[in-house]
Amino acid sequence: MAFIDWEDKYKINVADVDEQHMGLFDLLNRLHESVINGEDKSMQSTILDELIDYTVEHFATEEKLFLETGFSGYENHKKVHDDLTSQAVDIQNEFRNDNATISFELLDFLNDWLTTHTLGLDQEAGDFLNSKGVS
Ligand SMILES: [Fe+2]
Ligand SMILES: [Fe+2]
Repeated sequence: MAFIDWEDKYKINVADVDEQHMGLFDLLNRLHESVINGEDKSMQSTILDELIDYTVEHFATEEKLFLETGFSGYENHKKVHDDLTSQAVDIQNEFRNDNATISFELLDFLNDWLTTHTLGLDQEAGDFLNSKGVS
Protein backbone atom coordinates (compact mmCIF):
# COMPACT_ATOMS: atom_id res chain seq x y z
CA MET A 1 0.00 0.00 0.00
CA ALA A 2 1.37 3.35 -1.00
CA PHE A 3 1.38 6.43 1.18
CA ILE A 4 -1.38 7.90 -0.95
CA ASP A 5 -3.36 5.48 -3.11
CA TRP A 6 -5.01 6.58 -6.31
CA GLU A 7 -8.65 5.52 -6.55
CA ASP A 8 -11.38 6.16 -9.08
CA LYS A 9 -13.23 8.35 -6.58
CA TYR A 10 -10.56 11.02 -7.19
CA LYS A 11 -11.38 11.29 -10.88
CA ILE A 12 -13.19 14.40 -12.04
CA ASN A 13 -13.57 13.04 -15.56
CA VAL A 14 -11.46 15.70 -17.20
CA ALA A 15 -8.58 13.74 -18.75
CA ASP A 16 -5.78 16.31 -18.44
CA VAL A 17 -6.68 17.11 -14.85
CA ASP A 18 -7.02 13.46 -13.81
CA GLU A 19 -3.64 12.70 -15.34
CA GLN A 20 -2.04 15.57 -13.41
CA HIS A 21 -3.71 14.48 -10.17
CA MET A 22 -2.27 10.99 -10.65
CA GLY A 23 1.14 12.57 -11.29
CA LEU A 24 0.87 14.54 -8.04
CA PHE A 25 -0.03 11.39 -6.11
CA ASP A 26 3.01 9.66 -7.66
CA LEU A 27 5.34 12.50 -6.71
CA LEU A 28 4.06 12.58 -3.14
CA ASN A 29 4.61 8.82 -2.92
CA ARG A 30 8.15 9.28 -4.21
CA LEU A 31 8.83 11.97 -1.64
CA HIS A 32 7.46 9.76 1.14
CA GLU A 33 9.59 6.84 -0.03
CA SER A 34 12.66 9.04 -0.15
CA VAL A 35 12.10 10.06 3.48
CA ILE A 36 11.39 6.47 4.59
CA ASN A 37 14.54 5.25 2.84
CA GLY A 38 16.61 8.02 4.40
CA GLU A 39 17.78 9.35 1.05
CA ASP A 40 20.00 12.39 1.22
CA LYS A 41 18.72 15.92 1.41
CA SER A 42 19.57 16.83 -2.17
CA MET A 43 17.43 13.95 -3.48
CA GLN A 44 14.54 14.95 -1.24
CA SER A 45 14.96 18.54 -2.32
CA THR A 46 14.82 17.55 -6.00
CA ILE A 47 11.58 15.61 -5.50
CA LEU A 48 10.06 18.40 -3.41
CA ASP A 49 10.91 20.93 -6.14
CA GLU A 50 9.38 18.67 -8.76
CA LEU A 51 6.23 18.25 -6.68
CA ILE A 52 5.87 21.99 -6.19
CA ASP A 53 6.58 22.83 -9.85
CA TYR A 54 4.06 20.27 -11.01
CA THR A 55 1.50 21.57 -8.51
CA VAL A 56 1.90 25.10 -9.87
CA GLU A 57 1.55 23.81 -13.44
CA HIS A 58 -1.52 21.80 -12.41
CA PHE A 59 -3.23 24.76 -10.74
CA ALA A 60 -2.64 26.82 -13.89
CA THR A 61 -4.28 24.09 -16.00
CA GLU A 62 -7.38 24.05 -13.80
CA GLU A 63 -7.62 27.85 -13.61
CA LYS A 64 -7.33 28.17 -17.39
CA LEU A 65 -10.22 25.73 -17.84
CA PHE A 66 -12.29 27.64 -15.27
CA LEU A 67 -11.74 30.93 -17.09
CA GLU A 68 -12.47 29.42 -20.50
CA THR A 69 -15.79 28.01 -19.28
CA GLY A 70 -16.86 30.95 -17.10
CA PHE A 71 -16.85 28.91 -13.89
CA SER A 72 -18.41 31.02 -11.12
CA GLY A 73 -16.31 29.30 -8.44
CA TYR A 74 -13.10 30.57 -10.07
CA GLU A 75 -12.16 33.27 -7.53
CA ASN A 76 -12.64 31.10 -4.49
CA HIS A 77 -10.92 28.09 -6.03
CA LYS A 78 -7.97 30.20 -7.17
CA LYS A 79 -7.60 31.64 -3.68
CA VAL A 80 -7.34 28.13 -2.24
CA HIS A 81 -4.69 27.27 -4.87
CA ASP A 82 -2.77 30.49 -4.14
CA ASP A 83 -2.78 29.84 -0.38
CA LEU A 84 -1.33 26.37 -0.84
CA THR A 85 1.24 27.65 -3.33
CA SER A 86 2.52 30.27 -0.92
CA GLN A 87 2.70 27.71 1.90
CA ALA A 88 4.57 25.34 -0.41
CA VAL A 89 7.08 28.03 -1.38
CA ASP A 90 7.68 28.79 2.33
CA ILE A 91 8.30 25.09 2.98
CA GLN A 92 10.66 24.96 -0.01
CA ASN A 93 12.66 27.96 1.22
CA GLU A 94 12.84 26.63 4.75
CA PHE A 95 14.09 23.31 3.45
CA ARG A 96 16.71 24.94 1.23
CA ASN A 97 18.03 27.41 3.76
CA ASP A 98 17.90 25.52 7.02
CA ASN A 99 18.86 22.09 8.03
CA ALA A 100 15.17 21.28 8.10
CA THR A 101 14.18 17.80 7.06
CA ILE A 102 10.95 16.69 5.47
CA SER A 103 8.85 15.59 8.40
CA PHE A 104 6.03 13.09 8.50
CA GLU A 105 3.89 15.98 9.64
CA LEU A 106 4.61 17.78 6.37
CA LEU A 107 3.95 14.63 4.34
CA ASP A 108 0.65 14.14 6.17
CA PHE A 109 -0.27 17.76 5.56
CA LEU A 110 0.36 17.36 1.81
CA ASN A 111 -1.52 14.05 1.73
CA ASP A 112 -4.49 15.58 3.52
CA TRP A 113 -4.49 18.70 1.38
CA LEU A 114 -4.33 16.77 -1.88
CA THR A 115 -7.04 14.26 -1.02
CA THR A 116 -9.38 16.84 0.52
CA HIS A 117 -9.00 19.28 -2.36
CA THR A 118 -9.34 16.63 -5.06
CA LEU A 119 -12.44 15.14 -3.44
CA GLY A 120 -13.93 18.53 -2.62
CA LEU A 121 -13.47 21.66 -4.69
CA ASP A 122 -12.02 19.82 -7.69
CA GLN A 123 -15.07 17.52 -7.88
CA GLU A 124 -17.42 20.51 -7.84
CA ALA A 125 -15.36 22.17 -10.56
CA GLY A 126 -15.29 18.90 -12.50
CA ASP A 127 -19.08 18.65 -12.46
CA PHE A 128 -19.26 22.15 -13.89
CA LEU A 129 -16.60 21.45 -16.56
CA ASN A 130 -18.37 18.21 -17.53
CA SER A 131 -21.64 20.14 -17.87
CA LYS A 132 -19.81 22.43 -20.33
CA GLY A 133 -18.67 19.45 -22.35
CA VAL A 134 -15.08 19.43 -21.05
CA SER A 135 -13.86 15.90 -20.42
FE1 LIG B 1 -6.54 19.75 -8.77
FE1 LIG C 1 -8.04 22.69 -7.69
